[in-house]
Amino acid sequence: MCGIVGYVGTSNGVPIVLEGLQRLEYRGYDSSGLAVAGSSGLKVHKAKGRVSDLKAALPKRIKGSPAIGHTRWATHGAPTDHNAHPHVDFSGRFAVVHNGIIENAPQIRERLVADGIEPRSETDTELIAHLIGQAAVEHDDPVDALRTALRRVEGAYGLAVLDAQHPDRIVVARLGSPIVLGLGDREMYVASDVGAIVRHTRQVVHLEDGEIALLEPDGFTTSTLDARPVQKVSELVDLDDEQFDLGEHEHFLRKEIGEQPEAVERTLSGRLDERFSTIKLGGLNLEPNELRSFKRVYILGCGSAYYSGEIGAQLIEELARIPATAEAASEFRYRNPVIDPDGLYIAVSQSGETADTLAAVEELTRKGARVLGVINQVGSAIARANNGGVYIHAGPEVSVASSKSFTSTCVAFAMLAVHLGRIRDLSPADGDRLIQALRDLPAKIAAILEQEDAIKEAAEWLAQYDSAMFIGRVRGWPIAREAAQKIKEVAYLHAEAYQSAELKHGPLALICETMPVVAVVPDDELNEKQRSTLHEIKARSGQILAIGHESFPEDLAERTIVVPRTEPELDPILLNIPLQLLAYHAALALDRDIDRPRNLAKSVTVE
Ligand code: AGP
Repeated sequence: MCGIVGYVGTSNGVPIVLEGLQRLEYRGYDSSGLAVAGSSGLKVHKAKGRVSDLKAALPKRIKGSPAIGHTRWATHGAPTDHNAHPHVDFSGRFAVVHNGIIENAPQIRERLVADGIEPRSETDTELIAHLIGQAAVEHDDPVDALRTALRRVEGAYGLAVLDAQHPDRIVVARLGSPIVLGLGDREMYVASDVGAIVRHTRQVVHLEDGEIALLEPDGFTTSTLDARPVQKVSELVDLDDEQFDLGEHEHFLRKEIGEQPEAVERTLSGRLDERFSTIKLGGLNLEPNELRSFKRVYILGCGSAYYSGEIGAQLIEELARIPATAEAASEFRYRNPVIDPDGLYIAVSQSGETADTLAAVEELTRKGARVLGVINQVGSAIARANNGGVYIHAGPEVSVASSKSFTSTCVAFAMLAVHLGRIRDLSPADGDRLIQALRDLPAKIAAILEQEDAIKEAAEWLAQYDSAMFIGRVRGWPIAREAAQKIKEVAYLHAEAYQSAELKHGPLALICETMPVVAVVPDDELNEKQRSTLHEIKARSGQILAIGHESFPEDLAERTIVVPRTEPELDPILLNIPLQLLAYHAALALDRDIDRPRNLAKSVTVE
């Protein structure tokens, strides 16, 4: 969703901010803007559309430091030039960019109007700018002015402020929306996502909720909203700039699908413990006796993270024999859930920023539950809100549609399930069997990727239809859901996911020659039953694309994609890979904006 970049130092901040904004494009946005502070005051430029539209609208000679920029994903007010950030206060002194949502915006607007200040945009951000302007009448210092203004604000924010009277400073604040500072040589950076600044510095400081920072070329100081000084320690981020580049690829989605063998290697790295036939997971922060004491596991996440949680729940039930379920975090937080005192809760999120998942974790923590995270983004809000967990180490995922993070999350769940299982009743032989199968996954994923031509041909066939049905059973069911979502997301093709056995209870009525069916059919204990369903579909002129193993009968489907065998419990991980390529190639055939699907954002930081 929205993104922030800022620079203060001895170089020209404009190209640095523009390039940082382009790095944030993947998060999804509909307008962008930039402000520079200089001796002649603030210069502010904004444009609806892409960062390239902003670049085109900029005067050729604009340059300077400090500079701040923003990509906006509309919440309060339509995506227009006018509503784009930065917003300037009534006095023309402060320019503000903001991520998050101000909940008491209507009340603030009313007060400002009563004070004779007429906001020019429909945004909540402009209101913050005016509050800072009002506070500056009493507190000339911009940090004090920001602090005073924020006392009147309810909601979530990550924000950066330029002050025309101090054109060598940026003031930033965080509450519920990430802000990271980057330390350079006589220069400082700020961003909502480290990917925007990693090209310039890997030495970073994460602000915590309720903290304000003053950035000057020579360094920074931090304090709390109630003016207590805070000492921060910088850390080196383990990210490569090229992970954010397309390289030889046309789309990040394809690049990231192709990166899965290495991503899974990283997820597994240092965790397979052959000596004790188990998995070592250092970050759980729970002793074996505590892990034995949980009587149920509850997994929470949104979208693909939720579907990977469904696979996780199945793995934990199968391997550790602990009852486990997954639920959409977006629903969980609103149903006043009863917290199970004997339950282990697990929050799943690639970005670690998803507002609904974070709110679910906060609700659980408030009620005293034990919450672990399965997270990609190290140090993210959800990671820090948990009691411990498993980092998946998939590497940065830029494409809005997740691929490698989904796969690595499923691998992390498999490891967690073996770990929990080995503390309980999973035998050493089963531990060894699964460890070997996990070790073999990267090579098997690479083998599936080699079938791209056949999958592309199937995708082009699928792309001719308006609608498709995705079916699976037990282990194949979350995969059918994930695949249907992926096709919707990137190909804008209507897709329904159904449990195979449920078809005859209703949706079978839809089956005809114009309703293709994509069936996930592993050669497991349910294979015979799945085949019966496929016969029922065929008998009604349904066209079938089957994803299965080499034993799948040729005459039962028009098209078949065969994946290598693994241990049955891990089948979903491999069965999903061709379906990612299927969605990608269907989207390519339909000429979709694959990395920036319409209306979607990478990190959903609003409810
Ligand atoms: C997946 O392709 C989607 N982009 C989306 O469903 C995503 O998985 C969901 O928004 C959760 O994101 P998170 O993993 O960052 O929490």
